[in-house]
Amino acid sequence: MSLQQRLQTLQADTSNASTTGATSSTMGSHAGHDDGDEANDPFVELKTKVHKAVIHKVGPALFRSERQQPGNAESAREEMVEAVNEAVASIIEGDSTPLTRLERAQLISEITDDILGYGPIDPFLRDETVTEVMVNDHRTVYIERKGKITLTNARFVDEQHLERIIDKIVSQIGRRIDESSPMVDARLPDGSRVNAIIPPLAVRGSALTIRKFRKDPLKMEDLIKFGTLSPKAGQFLELCVKGALNVVISGGTGSGKTTTLNVLSGAIPPDARIITVEDAAELQLKQEHVITLESRPANIEGKGQVAIRDLVRNTLRMRPDRIVVGECRGPETVDMLQAMNTGHDGSMTTIHANNPREALSRVETLVLTAGVDLPLRAIREQAAGAIDLIVQVSRLVDGSRRITHITEVGKMEGETITLQDIFIAKPDDEGAERGATSRLIGPLTMTGIKPGFLDKLAQNGVTIPVSFFSGEEDLRGSANGSFGAGGSIRRAG
Ligand SMILES: Nc1ncnc2c1ncn2[C@@H]1O[C@H](COP(=O)(O)OP(=O)(O)O)[C@@H](O)[C@H]1O
Ligand SMILES: [Mg+2]
Repeated sequence: MSLQQRLQTLQADTSNASTTGATSSTMGSHAGHDDGDEANDPFVELKTKVHKAVIHKVGPALFRSERQQPGNAESAREEMVEAVNEAVASIIEGDSTPLTRLERAQLISEITDDILGYGPIDPFLRDETVTEVMVNDHRTVYIERKGKITLTNARFVDEQHLERIIDKIVSQIGRRIDESSPMVDARLPDGSRVNAIIPPLAVRGSALTIRKFRKDPLKMEDLIKFGTLSPKAGQFLELCVKGALNVVISGGTGSGKTTTLNVLSGAIPPDARIITVEDAAELQLKQEHVITLESRPANIEGKGQVAIRDLVRNTLRMRPDRIVVGECRGPETVDMLQAMNTGHDGSMTTIHANNPREALSRVETLVLTAGVDLPLRAIREQAAGAIDLIVQVSRLVDGSRRITHITEVGKMEGETITLQDIFIAKPDDEGAERGATSRLIGPLTMTGIKPGFLDKLAQNGVTIPVSFFSGEEDLRGSANGSFGAGGSIRRAG
């Protein structure tokens, strides 16, 4: 009997045992888990055992040598393979289940990968269909694929193993994580965004979140194809951006704010000087005239911080035509509003809120965090004057992302800012019946209301005929010829 078969029998036994009430949680026996590469791996048990022993034996030394000569990856790997080989051999020797040559080679390569790569999450990082990897603790790894979040069978051997991998990721980008600075938010060399947080802040053990960089970022065509918005809404938004409206994209975490911002930024004319400001540079603008700024956290001594706010202020001295701020989540909101109000039309940002109305009150709250000594009404007037359009994105229960509102921000009426939906996606009847939590929504349709900012657009050289808002007229291929294939805009004149 091969090892594979032996382990399978063993596994069958344990899963029988668990149906009779035992709580043994053998890896690979979790029904309903994602079929990640680690799923149903017959080697898991043995690997875990050998892995622990190998790390115990040679791990620390190997990690040290790897750090001392980071440039020499190839020879480090060879050394590692040899050391792991020896260690595995000596460990297996004392085991009652001898391995075939092939099985042993496989085991060694997996363990080597584990030590050299990113351990159990390595396959997910290489898998292009996985967009996000979330490690809640060493035994719980979730991934997102096609918008769906699933639990995987991947596991770290123990908390130390996870911390080692985190430490490895973080130290590669010149950052440090330890008890004195237990939190890191950073960008990997490949552009992926990584957040790690370890005990004592993470109470149940370290957590690691990696939002993978899309080599091929989503375009307007993709969003339309995915049903995130209608072609007509896409055209409308591109014209709004081209015509230098100030746009706020509102949505929850992971709803697609940054993606939408990136897509919409694509409609900024190529001759505009664009400055982007982000915590971790995620935006990928295709224009040539782009300057990318990234904030910096304080170092271990608590010095050297450059906040988003500092950067936004600095952009004003850089003669920008358009300022794109990745997200407003603090005092920078004041500076953003000011920029929008003082001639930097066509600026864009995102904000964390669940609907356009809430986005506005979030703006107010954030302005207050800057310690601005203004009455609420004045802040509200600033916001109403600055923001032309709110685009609301939502992540639906089925994992899809939808634009649910394209809303004009009007003037103050009494104490409130008027909001006017230009496009709206209403909950479908069926969805409404199922209740708010599992609600899907109908298509994004025009309300028929003509926005008040058409004049502003016209001043900036973009004319949208009034008939666009009443009929089903599609501007594509129409006389003014400002639409190219796929809904993207060619420069007019
Ligand atoms: N319209 C969309 N359709 C499908 N997937 C999307 C869409 N927009 C974003 N995503 C995916 O959702 C994830 C989160 O998107 P992101 O724009 O970073 O969200 P946010 O900035 O709101 O946190 C990414 O993996 C992204 O590729
Ligand atoms: Mg984002």
